[in-house]
Amino acid sequence: PLTAVDTPADLRKAVMAWRRAGLKVGFVPTMGALHDGHISLVELALRHCDRVVASVFVNPAQFAPGEDFDAYPRTLETDAAKLAEAHCHLLYAPTARAMYPEGFALKVQVGGPSEGLETDFRPHFFDGVATVVAKLFNQVRPDIAVFGEKDYQQLLVIRRLAADLDHGVAIIPGPVVREDDGLALSSRNVYLSQDERARAVRLNEILKDFAQALERGDDVATAQARALAKAANGFDGVDYVEARCAETLAELPAGPIDRPARVLGAVWLGKTRLIDNFAADPA
Ligand code: PAJ
Repeated sequence: PLTAVDTPADLRKAVMAWRRAGLKVGFVPTMGALHDGHISLVELALRHCDRVVASVFVNPAQFAPGEDFDAYPRTLETDAAKLAEAHCHLLYAPTARAMYPEGFALKVQVGGPSEGLETDFRPHFFDGVATVVAKLFNQVRPDIAVFGEKDYQQLLVIRRLAADLDHGVAIIPGPVVREDDGLALSSRNVYLSQDERARAVRLNEILKDFAQALERGDDVATAQARALAKAANGFDGVDYVEARCAETLAELPAGPIDRPARVLGAVWLGKTRLIDNFAADPA
C-alpha cells in the first residue's frame, strides 16, 4: 500500500526504517500530472530496489516569470492512485513552504552539460532543477534515482550533480515512453488543442529522420539544416534542433558523426513548448 508524506521529517522517518532493515531505496522525482512515462520510471526503479519513493512537487524555482507554473496541471489524487497501482511504496508531496522556507538562499549551479540547448532559451531552468533535486536527494537519500531520457539534457545535468556533490546516488536512465504515433508523453501535452496535437507528431518524425540521416553517414550540418527547415515549416517557433555528443552534450566536429550522438529539439505549438530527442550512433 502507498503511504503519503508531506514533510522532510516524515519522509526521513519512513526511509530510515527501510534503511535499518537493509532495504535498497529507489527514487523517482516528478512534478506530478503523472502519465505512463512517469510510471515506467517507477517500474524501472522497482526492478532495481526493494522500496520506491516518488516525489510530486511543482518546483517554482525552475519556472521563469511568464512560464506555465500556475497553469501546470496538478492532479495529486489521481497521481497517488496511479502510484499505488504501480506498487510504489511512498509518495512524497511537500509544500512549497517546506521546500523553500522563509529566508531560503541556496542555488545549485551545474556547468558542463547544462551549457547551451535548454539554457539558451530557459536560462533559469537547470539552476532550479539542480537546486530542488540536490535537496530531494539529501531528503530521501536514495541508493538509486531514475530519470527519463525524455529530458535528456536534464538527465546529464543530474548525473553531473550527483557525481560532483558526492550524493552517492546511482542515476539510472529510463527510455522515452511514446504515444502510438511517436509523440513523447508529457504532462504538457494536455495544453495542446486538437489541431496542435495532430501537428505535434512532426517533432518526433523530424528528429528521428535527423538521427537516421546521421546514422547513414550524412554530414551533421547538412542533416541539421534539413531538420531545421522541416521544423520551421511545421511549428510556430523553433528554439533549437541540434545534434550533440551523447555523452557530454558538447558540440560535434564537422562531417559525419564519429561517436555516439544525440539529436535534440525544442519547438513551439501555439503557447506550448515541446521537447524530444533521439540517439544517433555511428555505423
Ligand atoms: P517531470 O517533467 O514531471 O518529469 C519527471 C521525470 O519523468 C523526469 O525524469 C522525466 O524525464 C520523466 N519523463 C517525463 N516524460 C517521460 C516520457 N514520456 N518517458 C519517459 N520518462 C519521462 O523532470 C521533472 O519533472 C522535473 O524537472 C524534476 C526532475 C522533477 C525536478 O523538479
